[in-house]
Amino acid sequence: MQKEQKSWYKNAVFYEVSTRAYYDSNGDGIGDIQGLTQKLDYIQHLGVDCIWLLPIFPSPLIDDGYDISDYYNIHPDLGTIDDFKELVRETHRRGMRIIADLVINHTSDQCAWFKEAQANPRSPYHDYYVWSNTDQRYKDARIIFVDSETSNWAWSEDAQKYYWHRFYACQPDLNFDNPAVREEMKAVMRFWLDMGIDGFRADAVPYLIEREGTTCENLPETHAFLKELRKLIDDEYPGCILLAEANQWPQDLRQYLADGDEFHMAFQFPLMPRIYKALAKGDCSPIIDIMKMTPQIPENCQWCTFLRNHDELTLEMVTEEDRQFLWNFYAPIPRMRQNLGIRRRLAPLMDGNCQKVLLLNAILFSLPGTPIIYYGDEIGMGDNIYLEDRDGVRTPMQWDSSRNAGFSSAVEEKMYLPVIKSEQFTYSRINVASQQQDPHSLFNTIRKMLAIRKQNPLMAGGAVEFIENAQVPALLFLKRCDEKNILFALHNLSEQAIPVDLRAHIRDGQPLLDLMNEKTFQGCTVTLPPYAFIWLKVL
Ligand code: NOJ
Ligand code: CA
Repeated sequence: MQKEQKSWYKNAVFYEVSTRAYYDSNGDGIGDIQGLTQKLDYIQHLGVDCIWLLPIFPSPLIDDGYDISDYYNIHPDLGTIDDFKELVRETHRRGMRIIADLVINHTSDQCAWFKEAQANPRSPYHDYYVWSNTDQRYKDARIIFVDSETSNWAWSEDAQKYYWHRFYACQPDLNFDNPAVREEMKAVMRFWLDMGIDGFRADAVPYLIEREGTTCENLPETHAFLKELRKLIDDEYPGCILLAEANQWPQDLRQYLADGDEFHMAFQFPLMPRIYKALAKGDCSPIIDIMKMTPQIPENCQWCTFLRNHDELTLEMVTEEDRQFLWNFYAPIPRMRQNLGIRRRLAPLMDGNCQKVLLLNAILFSLPGTPIIYYGDEIGMGDNIYLEDRDGVRTPMQWDSSRNAGFSSAVEEKMYLPVIKSEQFTYSRINVASQQQDPHSLFNTIRKMLAIRKQNPLMAGGAVEFIENAQVPALLFLKRCDEKNILFALHNLSEQAIPVDLRAHIRDGQPLLDLMNEKTFQGCTVTLPPYAFIWLKVL
């Protein structure tokens, strides 16, 4: 891979994959690395530049692999280190890149480090974790998994002390005040980077260090350590990237990009729920307001934008009033709600309406940033809210209409999770094979949108101007431009058609190219059908 192409991530398409959920190559009911390797052509065909692999390491899987028990190995269900090396090779051979999860804040309680730490207070591993004789310290730190945890402290019978955890109690936090922990995490990074991966999505980075009297989030000490990790990348693995998972308000989030010397990218958390709010209200102002509140970023950084991921659709970064509104609108059944979010996939959130699914993708693709697509959302996969935790959005990829959706030859009973069979989203109708045959399918339309985006780099990195019209709040009208080109991206967030007068924005008789329909026209009005979008390039 051309590691020299240093800013490859600034105009790219990312694709988030759960190996377990993607394709089962050996018929045991569990997706695996060899299976994923077999499906790389599909991912490449969609137009993906970089795969983000959810955790693949040994784990008791209480938090679906975000509870790692061995940082230097592959979960036996998923394959071997050799399988992984082959996956990296084959990904690169297709001109794509691949990043892995770096679960840095905590380990599993089944990790040998924690077992040793509990059993022996004199072991060097004891100080790998954060201990206390009381559960009254760091009271200002919020609880994240509010549905299941009541404290960030848990009692260790073995150690006869409390240990600190920001997530499940089975995920003890590592102690980043300990230099040995810092070195261990760097060793973990080198171990995987040496296998050729192109960087990491770093998990839960705001929570690395605790200090009394603070929220224990976004602390200066945490940023200082993260900059050390960036230095490691720059010095030893140039061209590789670090992507921050920091679910924070814009000002705090911005700090993770620092002066271009911390993370290369950060997920644009505050934007995501506001796209849903704008659609629900038929009013584009939540999107415009948050974009205006979002600080400028350094030249060598980029936002990673998304609509959905493997977690609940988080409503942490909205006001209480908006949270209630979004819950009522998108999660009317109590079971759809989880922690401070919604356990549903994109297509069900849109009630299976492909037009709306495309509209939201169009908004995502016409805003600055590098978009990330969650596996299965490109075909409009459904969910199962009655599965445990967030499993409802982690079900097997639907390849075709055959048994187990073509995901596995195992007997149904052995499947790691059941395939989606609901009337509205059954795999017999919603699957890759059928969508690849239909030129107007969701898959083929998204594929086309991504290709257009690729051909028009101003969509990722160009300047953005919001053309507002108080009389027509449902019209999200973006002007994107760079030194050479201008593009108008118009989105109708309502169920009424909207005529748009372009006279103020183009010269008389200036031809425009409708990029999706590949048609040139001269005229000064376009009419946007309900929930439609149009991308116009000024010729
Ligand atoms: C964020 C991950 O996306 C989520 O799945 C996980 O539960 C927590 N971090 C804890 O690792
Ligand atoms: Ca398997």
